[in-house]
Amino acid sequence: MAAVDMDQLLAQIVAEIEPQIGTGSVADYIPALAAVDPAQFGIAVALPNGECYGAGDWTKPFSLQSISKLFTLALALSGDDESIWWRVGREPSGNAFNSLVQLEYENGVPRNPFINAGALVVTDHLAGVFGDATKAVLDFLRTESGNAEIDCDEEVAASEEAHGDRNLAMAHFLASYGNIHGDVRSIADQYVRQCAIAINCRDLALAGLFLARHGLRRDDTRMLSPSNTKRINAVLLTCGMYDAAGEFAYRVGLPGKSGVGGGILAVVPGRCTIAVWGPGLDRRGNSVAGVAALDRFTELTGWSVF
Ligand code: DON
Repeated sequence: MAAVDMDQLLAQIVAEIEPQIGTGSVADYIPALAAVDPAQFGIAVALPNGECYGAGDWTKPFSLQSISKLFTLALALSGDDESIWWRVGREPSGNAFNSLVQLEYENGVPRNPFINAGALVVTDHLAGVFGDATKAVLDFLRTESGNAEIDCDEEVAASEEAHGDRNLAMAHFLASYGNIHGDVRSIADQYVRQCAIAINCRDLALAGLFLARHGLRRDDTRMLSPSNTKRINAVLLTCGMYDAAGEFAYRVGLPGKSGVGGGILAVVPGRCTIAVWGPGLDRRGNSVAGVAALDRFTELTGWSVF
């Protein structure tokens, strides 16, 4: 699709979803996120050749939150190290992202890497490999986006840490099953800090391109094998939107990962990545305007995995 068409398409999508912008509620369990103005929206599309198009607030930073979980999983699988699958499953949980209930009767093995419990285990694995999981994520995002300024928002991190009892409880519970190997507080801290990274739609779409490029990074070095890239995309499709994964597959038909900052990164394998941001969330924690925009994108282009 020519550049001018993509610009037109994104402008059309923003116009069509305008009534949804500002609807939904901002995440209120992290006080720093509760203060964000919901009436904002951005969309960016990155093509495999590195071209990037955007509309609306696409260069305004927002809180990455759970979208970090796809980068941590990719880093855990880099070099085709598949050992993470000994410690975390690949099935949709059907429960909220921060639910504890399945963990006890499934013996401390989280259902998938995208719920909080699974991400804590992946962070623990990365801390073992890289020393500091947050730094590994930041390095990757900076290199792939070309923006060396990407950083953790200290206010968001402090805000979540002050209200982090649930994730800390989860990390201790995982440790009681032997599924956290490092220091529990340090792992929970690294998890919170990677969620608190501030990024804009442009940089997020570029950083996710390896998922649309069958595992190749922007400099053409290999992040993942084509097979593991296919597999991450599959887990994103089935688990990336939590207990709304079925509805998202129905409406959008793409692998995607949401965060309570209101961002969603979606992948059209072989074609592009799409990053959207709208802070108003539905009751499952997914951006209302973001899902609506991705729905329109796949309807208007016909680009989906189905
Ligand atoms: O751990 C938490 O609850 C947040 N830092 C991330 C949750 C999140 O983004 C869920 N996504 N929709």
